Amino acid sequence: MRVLGIESSCDETGVAIYDTDKGLLAHRLHSQIDLHAAYGGVVPELASRDHIRRLPLLLRETLEVTGLVMGDIDAIAYTAGPGLAGALLVGSSVAEALGVALGVPVLPVHHLEGHLLSPLLSATPPVFPFVALLVSGGHTQLMRVAGVGDYTLLGETVDDAAGEAFDKTAKLLGLPYPGGPALAKLALEGAPGRFRLPRPMLHSKDFDFSFSGLKTAVLTAATAPDFTAADRADLAAEFQAAAVDVLVAKSMAALKHTGLKQLVVAGGVGANLMLRAELDAAAAKRKARVFYPELELCTDNGAMIAFAGALRFIAGERGPAEDGCFAVRPR
Ligand code: KG4
Ligand code: ZN
Repeated sequence: MRVLGIESSCDETGVAIYDTDKGLLAHRLHSQIDLHAAYGGVVPELASRDHIRRLPLLLRETLEVTGLVMGDIDAIAYTAGPGLAGALLVGSSVAEALGVALGVPVLPVHHLEGHLLSPLLSATPPVFPFVALLVSGGHTQLMRVAGVGDYTLLGETVDDAAGEAFDKTAKLLGLPYPGGPALAKLALEGAPGRFRLPRPMLHSKDFDFSFSGLKTAVLTAATAPDFTAADRADLAAEFQAAAVDVLVAKSMAALKHTGLKQLVVAGGVGANLMLRAELDAAAAKRKARVFYPELELCTDNGAMIAFAGALRFIAGERGPAEDGCFAVRPR
């Protein structure tokens, strides 16, 4: 079965084809970073319009590199949410229209499930059950994953998501959008410890997170009268260290609590190299292993949607109950 996957929830347009026998055949991605950079964040209307422009081109490219034609597609999966409503509607409209034209089933996929399962696409995948740390611009969650669709939420952020905290802190430090990678880069030039930032909820004995206080502490430090431009790298390094400390501690606590030895890290913040290094070190101490998606599949992409859709089709799911119902769920 060949499943076409479409992702358009935010500022990346992704198209992919996953073959249930041969694996991922191809995926194509267009990032709208340049489009939104001048505004310091994603402009929903511009995002939707760009998805409309890009989707047909990416679709054609994906087919071309695989040597397939539309008629070779057996099913279609698209991101139904969470995300920007207008942007989601572009992907869902294209998917539903293609489904009608080709006479194939169409399945809405939860964006986070795509991220969650994306490490299974790597050469050495984890096996169920595992603990998943989902760290994106919109979510920070720890889950116990027993199988496809079998997810138990262990804990999550009570305020800002980790990626959101990276982005907001980056903005405070005058860094360009998208803030996370820019902040990580600046942190390389600084040293943690010169500034002291809190590690929110580090000892809260649950699996929840809080990042808004950290951001406020950065604001206080950065607006102090004696703060200079030369201090920015040290503050960035301390922010990154604080965020990573909490993410690592809670992830290890979740492994201990569940008795599992596999941790899967998914979502954009999973691209952070310090987070990866610290998680690997902490996991090694407890003889556990950390699994990451391929770096190119860490951020939003169509491959994870095609893959999650394929697993759900294999499990017998066949799309929303009501015909012609677009299952877009922004929240
Ligand atoms: O999963 P994603 O691409 O989009 C969703 O939010 O669904 O995640 C994007 C988030 C942004 O907040 C971005 O700043 C953050 O991931 N991010 C990073 C890094 N790369 C991306 N944060 C920290 N370090 C990075 N290297
Ligand atoms: Zn995402």
